[in-house]
Amino acid sequence: MALNGTATVEIINGELLDSSPRSADIGNKVTVVLGAQWGDEGKGKVVDLLAQDADIVCRCQGGNNAGHTVVVDSVEYDFHLLPSGIINPKAIAFIGNGVVIHLPGLFEEAEKNAKKGKGLEDWDKRLIISDRAHIVFDFHQAADGIQEQQRQQQAGKNLGTTKKGIGPVYSSKAARSGLRICDLLADFQDFSERFKVLANQHKAMYPTLEINVEEELEKLKSYVNRIKPMVKDGVYFMYEALHGPQKKILVEGANAALLDIDFGTYPFVTSSNCTVGGVCTGLGMPPQNVGEVYGVVKAYTTRVGIGAFPTEQSDEIGQLLQTRGKEFGVTTGRKRRCGWLDLVLVKYAHMINGFTALALTKLDILDVLEEIKVGVAYTLDGKTIPYFPANQEVLNKVEVQYEILPGWNTDTSNVRTFEDLPEEAKKYVRFIENYLSVPVKWIGVGKSRESMIQLF
Ligand code: GDP
Ligand code: IMO
Ligand code: MG
Repeated sequence: MALNGTATVEIINGELLDSSPRSADIGNKVTVVLGAQWGDEGKGKVVDLLAQDADIVCRCQGGNNAGHTVVVDSVEYDFHLLPSGIINPKAIAFIGNGVVIHLPGLFEEAEKNAKKGKGLEDWDKRLIISDRAHIVFDFHQAADGIQEQQRQQQAGKNLGTTKKGIGPVYSSKAARSGLRICDLLADFQDFSERFKVLANQHKAMYPTLEINVEEELEKLKSYVNRIKPMVKDGVYFMYEALHGPQKKILVEGANAALLDIDFGTYPFVTSSNCTVGGVCTGLGMPPQNVGEVYGVVKAYTTRVGIGAFPTEQSDEIGQLLQTRGKEFGVTTGRKRRCGWLDLVLVKYAHMINGFTALALTKLDILDVLEEIKVGVAYTLDGKTIPYFPANQEVLNKVEVQYEILPGWNTDTSNVRTFEDLPEEAKKYVRFIENYLSVPVKWIGVGKSRESMIQLF
């Protein structure tokens, strides 16, 4: 039987034989990769693995606050706005409407990565940008810096943002005064007038903010012809991708569940939805097209910036994880705070995202430990609390109950099958699966593409 003019589904003995990932009515299913902690779990590496035979690779939210590392043939690429899967020379990369784009940043990132190795020379021919994506202006980035200074002066602490303009641009979007890619490509006179209004609003809010309006407009104009061939109506692009011939579509989440504007450790969060709902709103796609949802979990926990961190270790363990794990931010170069794996938090992320499987990364970093602690419950005033607290003051006060597991004290970096892992490492993995009731599909034991153990 032919459906949609293209897809075929067999009916045998009255039974519809639906071959996943394409389902007759719904169209293609999309595979989603999401961060399950506070970011930097190794999403870039997991995406790279899955993108090797992907047709379309997408980003649906966030901006160049993200920093995703991909290591291929010992060359390290860092992606911030571009979907990391663009590294597959056959893939089309799509930046959806939910993403906020700093145009100079986008070109700089692409050109820098293109110089590093083969395959990215034609990046601009393979990139599609949604016309509904909002633009990050230089003054949004400057305002981000001023907001941080004000927080420090007025409240004694800032948020530790990446200063990429994320808060200010999503604020402009929500206030309905933002400007989008479609506006830049339509009438430049009209765009310039709206730009001036927005710039003046920012000057009024932040008197010390310096904006060279004419210079920034001139710079923006220089991008018009460069991006014109890349810009499409994102809704129609996605619809065709979902309902045309069978295609492998991959979505790369940026940031992570605990940084989500709604579900994260507010106010110490980013300004977009980094959980599964952001995939639909950030691409213009119905929820029934969401297929596998892979949660990326680091074998311990890290956090960049400010905010509660119940399993943080401010002692030699935290130091060891930081040093061995080379825990420095890809976007800002800041040292990441480190601590034990917190399964209360990962379970909470799973409740929101419905992970179908997990990628457990950086197991090799734990190779030298005699024993490993895992956070399994929180108590408050001596009583176990059966939820992840919304309020930061409460979260700051919880005491973590730990399960202590034996370490394996063996180098795992060359292990390539689950069977070959030390028994204690297998137990660690099985403990995580049992606690979360989610299977672990991959285990990371090194930076490179090859250092990933696949379980099923
Ligand atoms: P992302 O933001 O989630 O993509 O993660 P980042 O790229 O910011 O940080 C993850 C870091 O860990 C990068 O430097 C990766 O190269 C590295 N990495 C990823 N997986 C593994 C792993 O299994 N073992 C080791 N040793 N490093 C890994
Ligand atoms: P990836 O995709 C880690 C953190 C910042 C700060 C807070 C708000 O690489 O995992 P923002 O600039 O978004 O307003 O900063 O969120 N943050 C991240 N931390 N990884 C990220 O992305 C992050 N994106 C934002 O450090 O605490
Ligand atoms: Mg990162």
